[in-house]
Amino acid sequence: MAFSIKFNTKPNPKSDTLIFLINEGNKLSTGAKKADKKYALSATLKNNAQFTGKSGQTLALNNAKSKIILLGTGDAAQSDGLAFETMAGKLFTHLKSAGTAHVTINMDGIKTASGLKKEDAAAHFGMGLQLAAYNFEHYKSKKDKTAKTLKSVTITSEKDNDAKKLHKAYMAIADGVCLARDLVNEPPNMLYPKSYVQRIKDELKPLGVDITILGEKQMEKLGFGALLAVGQGSACESQVAIMRWDGDTKTKKAPIALVGKGVTFDTGGISLKPGPNMDQMKMDMGGSAAVVGTIKALAGRKAKVNAIGIVGLVENMPSSNAYRPGDVITSHAGKTIEVLNTDAEGRLVLADILTYVQQKYKPEVIIDLATLTGAIMVALGLEYCGAFANDNDLWKQIEKSSHNTGEKFWRMPLDEAYRKEMESDVADLKNLGTSYGGSCSAAGFLEHFIDDGVKWAHIDIAGTAWWKTDKPTTPKGGTGFGVRALDDLIQNNFEK
Ligand code: BES
Ligand code: MN
Ligand code: ZN
Repeated sequence: MAFSIKFNTKPNPKSDTLIFLINEGNKLSTGAKKADKKYALSATLKNNAQFTGKSGQTLALNNAKSKIILLGTGDAAQSDGLAFETMAGKLFTHLKSAGTAHVTINMDGIKTASGLKKEDAAAHFGMGLQLAAYNFEHYKSKKDKTAKTLKSVTITSEKDNDAKKLHKAYMAIADGVCLARDLVNEPPNMLYPKSYVQRIKDELKPLGVDITILGEKQMEKLGFGALLAVGQGSACESQVAIMRWDGDTKTKKAPIALVGKGVTFDTGGISLKPGPNMDQMKMDMGGSAAVVGTIKALAGRKAKVNAIGIVGLVENMPSSNAYRPGDVITSHAGKTIEVLNTDAEGRLVLADILTYVQQKYKPEVIIDLATLTGAIMVALGLEYCGAFANDNDLWKQIEKSSHNTGEKFWRMPLDEAYRKEMESDVADLKNLGTSYGGSCSAAGFLEHFIDDGVKWAHIDIAGTAWWKTDKPTTPKGGTGFGVRALDDLIQNNFEK
């Protein structure tokens, strides 16, 4: 991030721009009231009927000594953490186009939704700015200068030290989100299984995460016949990365396991995808990115939890040694699978790492994330991901975290009928169901690899890992979807 975020009881005297918050209906916030006389805020509001204090609305004053921007907060009584992030995101767009360098946001006596402390609102505001400021221009020869004019942000808060502390944890989460975005945005010639592994080491080792890598030789010994089949047509060696964050050294509690599909590029293989938009399939590692980002967030904020992240990294390519439709392969679980479509590869990758993580780490709960099916976009569009859970309490936890973080999850069904649909005439299972309800049959396939009694949720993020339009705190491109909800879920239910 190019700019610093500081919390203080007083405005930064170096600021060239002051921001005052105005509640819906043009009610001045405490800070705005105090400054009203000096800067004639009420008078300005009267002369600008189009500004009503709606959330994220901005009004720049040009009749004052310093630059002033009024920022609408919407209904103060409804302003929760997410609302403060969103208004910060909208403000960032304004600051960027105005070329502001040093800014103080006056949050004195700010009104918030019940349950949200003022200092927490200030910390969320800072996080909103940080998430909105994300950009991916690594491969641009000419960098966007307007993105870098902002140098310092000071947010006033009566309890500035508390705000600082909260913000530090939120920064760790935002760093996790931004890493996940980066990974998804990287082009597939740069991010392939081995370079991905290196990136994971570079990002997570310094934070104290223990990392184990499985290469093809080890996977052959372990019998990862399903994952290896997917990668066998590619010149890139398949990899599995296991990330272990042991933040809770006292209890011997079973860890929570996060499992991610990391297909660094999905051509479909011999069942080749159509040409148009195939470039988008660089995002087929979005599930793994969410896992890596979440582990980064947990380690970054030193979460008191034991978590395992495991990602299957492969490239799905057609070639003379690619796997074919008709092949029968043997998974790590010992179940044989008839391949009917090489483009239904994600479930094969997940099958082996789901088995491995259960055998090796005996997790209490498993959550897998994958850009698994185009069908989930048919069902839910791009707004909601699909969540399949075999445990009602786990679903309730997911639903709560979805609400807390604004990452939208919708429950989808698991059913005996979907599991049956995936049984094959020639092998134990097949990787393709009927043409209806493809997301549900894919989940049914995965359920064959979940041991009895293990709480498990499968999250299909094919529609939410990549967005084509900007949102206030999520610029278009890789979204980092999943990191915030998973972090929140762990914080609320698994941390000491
Ligand atoms: N990676 C795709 C799913 C996908 C589609 C992700 C669009 C993001 C955007 C997955 O591997 C795939 O190809 N699924 C097939 C399954 C089918 C062959 C049963 C699909 O959805 O068409
Ligand atoms: Mn595919
Ligand atoms: Zn895929």
